[in-house]
Amino acid sequence: VERKATNVHWHDGEVNRGDRAAMLGHKGVTLWFTGLSGSGKSTVAVAVEKALTARGVLSYRLDGDNIRLGINSNLGFSAEDRQENIRRVGEISKLFADTGVVVLSSFISPYAEDRAMVRKVHEEADLPFMEVFIDCSLEAAEERDPKGLYKKARAGEIRGFTGIDDPYEAPESPELHLRTDQMNLEEEVEAVIKSLQERGIIV
Ligand code: PPS
Repeated sequence: VERKATNVHWHDGEVNRGDRAAMLGHKGVTLWFTGLSGSGKSTVAVAVEKALTARGVLSYRLDGDNIRLGINSNLGFSAEDRQENIRRVGEISKLFADTGVVVLSSFISPYAEDRAMVRKVHEEADLPFMEVFIDCSLEAAEERDPKGLYKKARAGEIRGFTGIDDPYEAPESPELHLRTDQMNLEEEVEAVIKSLQERGIIV
């Protein structure tokens, strides 16, 4: 994305990431949950947030629907708007992760290129980033249809709905691959916690 502002410079403070991690007792990270609508992204994120809180780990959820009600209320679902949605929430995730928070970002993020951009933003800031593929067949997601959106999309009342008449590009090498139609929530939470421990992010 082209930067329009000129004559802007980065300012360092006197407290760094390591100081904050020492204060909190864990590192910051972005867990990027990607998957179809109704795949279980938010459900897993909510359960992980609860488990982390019980362990004294500071976490925070960023969720598609919620963010689109606020900071991204001017964006729709065209490829351009989805890209801008992901770019902004990617930058917000990076800021939170830099504070030391375990960020749980749940967005369909259907385009591999947009997810790669968010990964790059984290890598450039030397912050850990984990792509978590919330994998569920379209059939199963459509069967669940928690918000009745698939029904509307099939009826032509919603155009450009992911999985119906809009693409979803599945991750090729996610750090974590959770098959929500084969695992239960408890197993999924355990897998996330374990991989945070293995990476030395939490104890
Ligand atoms: S994206 O693609 O990452 O920018 O989407 P996201 O910000 O995660 O928002 C997805 C939620 O918006 C609702 N919704 C749609 N999803 C997909 N396609 C279309 N056309 C659409 N219109 C509305 C839907 O409730 C998604 O929520 P989840 O939680 O994923 O089911």
